[in-house]
Amino acid sequence: MKVTVVGAGAVGASCAEYIAIKNFASEVVLVDIKENFAEGKAMDLMQTASLNGFDTKIVGSTNDYSKTAGSDVAVITSGIPRKPGMTREELIGINAGIVKTVSENLIKHSPNVILIIVSNPMDTMTYLTHKITGLPKNRIIGMGGALDSARFKYRLSEALGCPASDVEGMVIGGHSDKGMVPLTRLASRNSVRASEFLSEQRLAQVAADTKVGGATLTGMLGTSAWYAPGAAVSSLVQAIACDQQKMFPCSALLEGEYGLSDLTIGVPVILGKNGIERIVEIDLDENEKGLLAESAAGVKATNNLLSDMDLF
Ligand code: LAC
Repeated sequence: MKVTVVGAGAVGASCAEYIAIKNFASEVVLVDIKENFAEGKAMDLMQTASLNGFDTKIVGSTNDYSKTAGSDVAVITSGIPRKPGMTREELIGINAGIVKTVSENLIKHSPNVILIIVSNPMDTMTYLTHKITGLPKNRIIGMGGALDSARFKYRLSEALGCPASDVEGMVIGGHSDKGMVPLTRLASRNSVRASEFLSEQRLAQVAADTKVGGATLTGMLGTSAWYAPGAAVSSLVQAIACDQQKMFPCSALLEGEYGLSDLTIGVPVILGKNGIERIVEIDLDENEKGLLAESAAGVKATNNLLSDMDLF
């Protein structure tokens, strides 16, 4: 299993680190445009191998995609992160061109690669990758829901006063402050509905805090988060590498599922060796359906901005 991570910034490096620590990949190639940056990060990470007990070989490359040849999975984190007060949507102008170039370079050297898109605005960048590459829909996956769900589980565990491992919960919809749909109705503590323990008001607060999980951190750190995004990506890569058939909410191309089409948005999918093995359609109540439709309208409005950019 060879994995490429494009962008050796905080998210990319953290993603490479978690992949290495989980020890399922033979090689991780870290690519960056900044001279020697990926090489330096790769060397720093390799110096942890004996300490952290992994055998994964991490290699750095300054924009030389020949080193990525034969990758099974590639993660695109390149582009600029948001600064305090910015929305993910505001990054589209710079990041769309970068994602186009990167995805074309990756496919040139790894025609069978499965792509995981992290760059923001993530749902629109995932849609753009479909438009540019024409790859089968199972091979393009947008990472957002796994991260948003981890943030949801953190907030749920805080409200319930229990470890996150006791909690189940999922966030679907767009990866944006307004568009996320935390499924509070289905959230549970060890199979018991969270609503048995928490008031409607407290659950609404958990959902609200989840939706601004990234924005809150960006305000505190001055830039976007990296540990949770890196860990979320590594879980998706592992599910594919190890053919785990695990379910995650991911941004997937919809063709009628959930009554939606011609967009990618967060829905539960099964991940295995073929990437998205299938989309899972769960029964949503009327309120949830309405929130997902609203979220989809927001994603489509951002997608529409691509048409003025002459990218495909
Ligand atoms: C976040 C970025 C990765 O939510 O979108 O932290």
